[in-house]
Amino acid sequence: MRIVLIGFGTVGQSFVKLIDEGEDYLRNRYGLEFELVAVSDIIKGSVMDPEGLDKAELLKLVTKTGSIKSYSQNDSGFDSVESIRKSDADVVVEVSWTNLETGEPGITHIREALSLGKHVVTSNKGPIALAYHELNSLAKEKGVQLRYECTVMSGTPAIILGSEGLAGNKVMGFRGVLNGTTNFILSRMEQGATYESALKEAQGFGYAEVDPSADVEGWDAVGKTVILANTLMGARLKPLDVKRQGITGITVRDIEESKKRGGALRLVAEAWTEGSKVEAKVSPKTVDSRDPLARLSGALNALTITTEGLGDVTIIGKGAGGVETGHGIISDLIAIKRLSGH
Ligand code: HSE
Repeated sequence: MRIVLIGFGTVGQSFVKLIDEGEDYLRNRYGLEFELVAVSDIIKGSVMDPEGLDKAELLKLVTKTGSIKSYSQNDSGFDSVESIRKSDADVVVEVSWTNLETGEPGITHIREALSLGKHVVTSNKGPIALAYHELNSLAKEKGVQLRYECTVMSGTPAIILGSEGLAGNKVMGFRGVLNGTTNFILSRMEQGATYESALKEAQGFGYAEVDPSADVEGWDAVGKTVILANTLMGARLKPLDVKRQGITGITVRDIEESKKRGGALRLVAEAWTEGSKVEAKVSPKTVDSRDPLARLSGALNALTITTEGLGDVTIIGKGAGGVETGHGIISDLIAIKRLSGH
């Protein structure tokens, strides 16, 4: 499987490390070999080699210099869109930064790749939250797959649970903790840390967005809520349709208050059906201590999907981090191989 990687930050680098170190396992277990033919990052540079780039060398270079511009066989001087056009790849892995207002540059990358008949795997929430229906129609028209497992709960399989595992069961709504950074901050504050030091720690672990206000103001959870509502419930929500309140106003006293009431304070994302409409909200709430959401510590996420046929189904797992997201990308690539015979 020939891959173009767009974005070489925390997620991109973790993914490359995983396919490099897991080469034998992926070949023996899944008959899958990855050839990384191009990497393009707006800051770190762009490199291409139709014979396959040396993954270990790229990782060494970026760790040492913060750039890949001095890669030994550098065919450079092109940008991300040209990387998609020029490289003879089967799949574009799009892990550039998330913009929940415009979806760019991710939408352009994904549209370009699908138009050229290439499969797309993305962890980028902007394009899926803002343009899922358009991009999915384009993928269908071109006979390729658009996969976005790690846009919600990173590598924890929330999307595939709802779309494939629960196929045939009408999704009536869902409720979850979908942002790792804020859950990490709230649980560290429960243990006595300050908001500022907990946020710094979350950034250090690679959980937070490039601009962490996207996490603490609730926008990241809004993006994931929109993705789940639009892909599992057939809604057509935009981020501004979701009522939103983040955790910036939360104090240690609020957290203690929730504890006293026998629960825990969590940033809860929820969607429900009202007549023929889907409504959604992200806000801090005290959840009962028997609720699976109350027991989440650190960057753990949880999602309870309410279905007509099965009632509630809950999945819990890690929701953020480079390695965790890298695993989600690999699971999407394996699904592409399984469904399209690459
Ligand atoms: N910043 C996000 C989070 C990363 O904290 O959940 C995963 O989408």
